[in-house]
Amino acid sequence: MISPSEPTQVNVQASQLELRRMRSQDVPEVMEIESVSFGRHHWSDDSFYNEMNNQVGRYYALIHQDVPKLVGYLGFWLIADESHITTVAVRPEYRGNALGELMLVQSLERCMGSSIHWVTLEVRVTNYNAQNLYYKYGFASVGVRPKYYQDNQEDALIMTTPDINSADYRKLYNKLKGELEARLGGLPRGFGM
Ligand SMILES: CC(C)(COP(=O)(O)OP(=O)(O)OC[C@H]1O[C@@H](n2cnc3c(N)ncnc32)[C@H](O)[C@@H]1OP(=O)(O)O)[C@@H](O)C(=O)NCCC(=O)NCCS
Repeated sequence: MISPSEPTQVNVQASQLELRRMRSQDVPEVMEIESVSFGRHHWSDDSFYNEMNNQVGRYYALIHQDVPKLVGYLGFWLIADESHITTVAVRPEYRGNALGELMLVQSLERCMGSSIHWVTLEVRVTNYNAQNLYYKYGFASVGVRPKYYQDNQEDALIMTTPDINSADYRKLYNKLKGELEARLGGLPRGFGM
């Protein structure tokens, strides 16, 4: 089990990381991160097994190769012209290393230049760290789903990007991706796949 309280931070660079599609063997490690990240509202292991067979779902795992250890994951659905991010989390001791950002960029990269124009998600109204990440990437808050989270009846903010294929968005994205690459010393193996 991993502890949510003040873990020793681990710093990683792109050369130590791999991004790849999530596999069913990953689910036990995903569940470790899930339970410390989302408390009582977290998904079950069956949800992940089912999602990996969901035709519209795309689930990625971020691996720290030297250990090896699964340090984060992200999933999204592709429906018509929209991508809906269903989950994203980073192992607590790996947070603050731009890995959440890396996985968000992976999902944007996979959608750009395709028929997908908008990326949306729900986030707890009090989850300011995640909201900051989404604001950084041009998401705007476009509505509220009242009492969306059943554990404490918390509202969800609905956040969405502008058209990710617009010239303005591409400009923002390319700037941020360049900064991310500089921070991580490159992009990991498997990025964009
Ligand atoms: C949200 C989460 C995925 C972010 O991952 P992370 O790897 O720690 O974050 P990053 O290092 O990539 O940070 C990227 C941006 O997010 C925001 N952010 C992340 N942590 C933050 C913090 N502690 N305080 C303020 N902003 C923060 C910042 O905008 C940051 O950009 P910056 O580095 O230029 O300031 C991670 O905190 C997590 O797993 N949280 C629990 C699960 C969760 O809430 N998922 C989101 C559900 S909607």
